[in-house]
Amino acid sequence: MNGGAPRAVPAPRDPDATVLLAVETSCDETAAAVVRGGREVLADVVASQVDLHAAYGGVVPEIACRAHLESVGPVVERALADAGLGWTDLDAVAVTQGPGLVGALLVGLSFAKAAAWAHRLPLVPVNHLEAHLSAAYLEGTPDLPLVGLVVSGGHTALYLSGVRGRYQALGQTLDDAAGEAFDKVAKMLGLGYPGGVAIDRLARQGDPGRFGFPRPLHRSPDLDFSFSGLKTAVRTHLARFPGGPPSGNDLADTCASFQEAVVDSLLAKARRALERTGARTLVVCGGVACNGRLRERAEAMARDLGVTLVVPRPRYCTDNAVMVASAGWFRFHAGVRAGPDLNAVPTWPLERLDG
Ligand code: KG4
Ligand code: ZN
Repeated sequence: MNGGAPRAVPAPRDPDATVLLAVETSCDETAAAVVRGGREVLADVVASQVDLHAAYGGVVPEIACRAHLESVGPVVERALADAGLGWTDLDAVAVTQGPGLVGALLVGLSFAKAAAWAHRLPLVPVNHLEAHLSAAYLEGTPDLPLVGLVVSGGHTALYLSGVRGRYQALGQTLDDAAGEAFDKVAKMLGLGYPGGVAIDRLARQGDPGRFGFPRPLHRSPDLDFSFSGLKTAVRTHLARFPGGPPSGNDLADTCASFQEAVVDSLLAKARRALERTGARTLVVCGGVACNGRLRERAEAMARDLGVTLVVPRPRYCTDNAVMVASAGWFRFHAGVRAGPDLNAVPTWPLERLDG
């Protein structure tokens, strides 16, 4: 990749006018977005691989990798076409560098590196967790400090952010992520993959108080989470239905009771984090932040504590490239640039953003 030095960009235009192409391939969505000024969405394309992985009940890394290879070019072309822009209209390319599945990440990274080199654009690496949190900045400018609860299929963690771009880890899951628990319980209930949406829908008709599932680590003073014991409790509960997964009210009540246990666990620790830090804003983001009951209960808790709740719209909670553009825009203006040796970082804690 000799000769791939970024073109000499004079100080970028007015930050509000800079246009970024962002690419996201960390898990099972191939996504590209074109965003102006870190917030104005000109294009937002997501090619989901859910159908390819559903038969296996989870993401199969090799399949994800191959599907990204097929989709990444067309998805980026579609994003540029939707935005009505060409490569010369862009100021930079942002790409998810990690955390995520290494093979999946490498597809997006290779594409972004090649495109940035060919079009002489600066390349901006983005942390996927920072991208999830940066979805909050698409909804407005949050009052800092904020407590961020990232709840997705791969992560469940609490962060404190006193200034944009800096994060202190407050707690995290010691075993399964909340989304993983939703997906595993949905699988036990025969609801298909990914199961969060199905549980959310069925729980609306159910009684959240009927089955007393555990709230692991609820009383421990730390800010960590645990969901594997809850998953086991659901499995034990299902043994009461020898004919197969429950149906009707039993199914709805199981979903509602499980969901309530997850929401209680998440919000108990979020409340404690807010009280301890005195933060003014709670951000809830990641795929599980689409959950209706979590949104409703987080709203009530925030009102009670007198803090502002920011939950990005559902499209920006599940994996997408607009949130990558939001984080990338901030990093671009903070002077972050990557060279052609940029590599995937499958495990990349948010509090170690700067190495
Ligand atoms: O953020 P995301 O798209 O991917 C990761 O970075 O992991 O999150 C996907 C996760 C899946 O586990 C999915 O079941 C869960 O988010 N999810 C939900 C809901 N919608 C998506 N969980 C509960 N309720 C929902 N409505
Ligand atoms: Zn994600």
